[in-house]
Amino acid sequence: MTKTKLVAPVLKWVGGKRQILGEIKRYIPKTFETYYEPFLGGGAVLFELQPKNASVNDINSELMNVYVVIRDNVEDLIESLKQHGKAYKHNKKAKEYFYKIRELDRDKQIYDKLTSIEKAARVIFLNKTCYNGLFRVNRAGQFNTPFGYYKNPSIVNAQTLRAVSDYFNSADIRFSCDDFETVLEDATEGDFVYLDPPYDPVSDTASFTGYDRGGFDKSEQTRLSQVCHKLNEKGVKFVLSNSATDFIMDLYKDYIIEIIQARRVVNSRADRRGDVDEVMVRNFERQW
Ligand SMILES: C[S@@+](CC[C@H](N)C(=O)[O-])C[C@H]1O[C@@H](n2cnc3c(N)ncnc32)[C@H](O)[C@@H]1O
Repeated sequence: MTKTKLVAPVLKWVGGKRQILGEIKRYIPKTFETYYEPFLGGGAVLFELQPKNASVNDINSELMNVYVVIRDNVEDLIESLKQHGKAYKHNKKAKEYFYKIRELDRDKQIYDKLTSIEKAARVIFLNKTCYNGLFRVNRAGQFNTPFGYYKNPSIVNAQTLRAVSDYFNSADIRFSCDDFETVLEDATEGDFVYLDPPYDPVSDTASFTGYDRGGFDKSEQTRLSQVCHKLNEKGVKFVLSNSATDFIMDLYKDYIIEIIQARRVVNSRADRRGDVDEVMVRNFERQW
């Protein structure tokens, strides 16, 4: 199986790792059995590595549905996106159309009638046309990012979608929508795990928990560190990204911690953009 550059993220995701891929790649072990990515998000690292055996997971069911539809029904998905593209461009009421599609999840009965292909197309369409490309849901789990004023958003990227679909079909990948702890119970010696959880907020006001209804607070960060200890005991290699807060540095003090400077691209408020130190934690020495 050869790697191809056409395989790339199809969604812009909060905390997307494209900017620091180079840094992350430096820490990936040369060989491993199964690749685990329990906080998949936009999947930048998965698509960069294109492993043959993988188990990928995210608690966000809308997101995981997008990936499964790309695997199983990519042509229907492209067709559905084309319809969105036409409606968005031709009726000169792009904003109205955006809100019509966004509000589909306000009525459960209507939403439940959509096919998985229609749901996936809706998520991609909203991701391409909403403000900042930010996937955010309110407490009721409804998509609530406002309209984004784009001149010509690229709604259908058929080439990338087909390349990702080919990759999913040629590799042995398990897709799940579960809590990270459950998924990682299956990891065994020789496997490699890349963890990119929602970050510990640098300050209380910068707290951001809009990925899904659940949120990810300090007790979740602690639970994650305990899962990492278990992985370590089992002989599973892991690399974890997070923000460089004292709390995180303390949770992972038994491991190798390196600080990297990363640029957070997606942020809901322009004044919170900028360089935030991140940590890269790992439980093994680099082999080269
Ligand atoms: C920082 S993002 C991942 C970004 C991703 N690596 C990328 O490159 O785009 C964190 C992800 O964790 C997911 N998440 C939050 N809580 C979770 C949990 N308990 N178990 C699994 N996934 C969770 C969120 O839905 C979100 O997509």
